[in-house]
Amino acid sequence: MRTRKAVLMVALLLVLFSKRKGSAAFAQTLGDDAMCLQGVLSALASKGGGLSSWTSTGLKTPCLGSSASSLMGVGCNNNRVYSITLNASKLAGTISPSLANCTLLETLDISSNRLEGPIPPNIGNLSYLVSVNLSNNHLDGNIPVELSMCAYLNAIDLHANQLSGPIPSQLGLLQRLKFFDVSNNKLFGAIPPTLSNTSTGGPRFNMSSFKGNSDLYGYPLPVEPAGGLSVVAIVGIGLASGLVSLIVTFTAACVWLRVTEQGFAAQEGKISQLMAEA
Ligand SMILES: *[C@@H]1O[C@H](CO)[C@@H](O)[C@H](O)[C@H]1NC(C)=O
Ligand SMILES: *[C@@H]1O[C@H](CO)[C@@H](O)[C@H](O)[C@H]1NC(C)=O
Ligand SMILES: *[C@@H]1O[C@H](CO)[C@@H](O)[C@H](O)[C@H]1NC(C)=O
Ligand SMILES: *[C@@H]1O[C@H](CO)[C@@H](O)[C@H](O)[C@H]1NC(C)=O
Ligand SMILES: *[C@@H]1O[C@H](CO)[C@@H](O)[C@H](O)[C@H]1NC(C)=O
Ligand SMILES: *[C@@H]1O[C@H](CO)[C@@H](O)[C@H](O)[C@H]1NC(C)=O
Repeated sequence: MRTRKAVLMVALLLVLFSKRKGSAAFAQTLGDDAMCLQGVLSALASKGGGLSSWTSTGLKTPCLGSSASSLMGVGCNNNRVYSITLNASKLAGTISPSLANCTLLETLDISSNRLEGPIPPNIGNLSYLVSVNLSNNHLDGNIPVELSMCAYLNAIDLHANQLSGPIPSQLGLLQRLKFFDVSNNKLFGAIPPTLSNTSTGGPRFNMSSFKGNSDLYGYPLPVEPAGGLSVVAIVGIGLASGLVSLIVTFTAACVWLRVTEQGFAAQEGKISQLMAEA
């Protein structure tokens, strides 16, 4: 009887201990999400009315229950933040690198705002990211190559920003990528074939994904940079210069012929004169 009681006590202690350990880990991950959202908020210079729900109390526990959040635009799953949807929310400011603390984030949509500055490269730490929409903002700098570390990415929408530099070819290695739009930026260089063509040779993303970047070139856009000379212009210049040189040569030949003809005529005249004198 006594031993049974002791065993029960030990079992109870074990349960309590493991529970405490579990909740410590739980608090830690909750802390990551809180740190993430607090960072996101503090990087914003102007927060549309909706973000008044992002109170300091609310930010301490971003997820109430398993799927609810008191914070506008925040989606939870199993007590963790899995989506941030703040499209067209009148946000200005920058994207905080703290975003990478939302380690289970799957959906990020902060499109159609007035966000500026770079896309933080540590966005590549978001291993479960499925969809990223940063379109219609004023973001500048390069497209971070680190995005290619988000292996589950299905959709990358960066259209209508001020992004510059080349498109990292590593993005073409994302196996699940079904949607890709970097149109209307300031990107330059050759379009990576891994994004324009599939491994089987068919087209992967068409020109609507790439248009509106004046110095981006290669299939599916025209081969030469639009800012440089088009193929038609090059052929035209070639033909025109050929024609000009043809005319010049022809004229020169005619002039030479006429001069030598006159020379001959003069000489002939002299000879006949000499012959007449003799
Ligand atoms: C944000 O996007 C979702 C779907 O992507 C759309 O249903 C919603 O209307 C958008 N919100 C605003 C404010 O445009
Ligand atoms: C988490 O946020 C803190 C505070 O903003 C930051 O210093 C840290 O780099 C972030 N962690 C990651 C993985 O980005
Ligand atoms: C991204 O957001 C814009 C508007 O904010 C929308 O038009 C576009 O369809 C979205 N892209 C994706 C891949 O959902
Ligand atoms: C985040 O990614 C950077 C590289 O982009 C890496 O150096 C860093 O260790 C990562 N941090 C975490 C917490 O994963
Ligand atoms: C991609 O496909 C186009 C059209 O089929 C073809 O002209 C081009 O050579 C291909 N590029 C590469 C690198 O395979
Ligand atoms: C490009 O592809 C998209 C999606 O696959 C399609 O909706 C669109 O009509 C295509 N545009 C052109 C110009 O082919």
